[in-house]
Amino acid sequence: LLRWYRRHGRDLPWRRTRDPYHILVSEVMMQQTQVDRVVPKYHEWLAKYPSLEALARARQDEVVQTWYPLGYNVRPRRLHSIAREAVERYGGRLPDDEATLRGFKGIGAYTAGAVLSFAFGKRAAILDTNVARVLHRVFVGGGEIGSHAMQRHLWQLSRTLLPHRHVFDFNQALMDLGALVCTARKPKCLLCP
Ligand code: ADE
Repeated sequence: LLRWYRRHGRDLPWRRTRDPYHILVSEVMMQQTQVDRVVPKYHEWLAKYPSLEALARARQDEVVQTWYPLGYNVRPRRLHSIAREAVERYGGRLPDDEATLRGFKGIGAYTAGAVLSFAFGKRAAILDTNVARVLHRVFVGGGEIGSHAMQRHLWQLSRTLLPHRHVFDFNQALMDLGALVCTARKPKCLLCP
């Protein structure tokens, strides 16, 4: 998987940073929006709000307007409230432990894993729709992918598979495999690493 990723992985702007806030912005934007629409908005957003402090100072209506036209307007409001909470309670930084991250409204299991593994280099697992599909196809095969029991099982798999090194690349690679090869419709199984 890592060898495949080094050749075929996408060069995305949030793969060139370890800034927890920048990672958080990219992950919230990538929820339910295509990557080619996220990339320009990611740059625009960070030019306007380069830090959690800058975002926390902004007015909510302006923040929602900057988000336009990405849609799902609960996402910019959540980001804004995370920024304000981080400034009020954690000195303008995102905490680097799972329990505290999960305490923020708008940071669920996936986003916490993404921030921990991509920004803080921790050995933290991720599971989103793409990764769940990949792991389900490779290791499970049958059953209802969305069931509570299956999701628990897939999270456990994702934790078990994590290597001790290259966690950043491994998690990004799982997402690219799901996005580029192990796609929902017409997967390119002959190209699967
Ligand atoms: N989808 C969600 N997060 C992503 C990331 N970091 N890279 C590619 N696709 C993603």
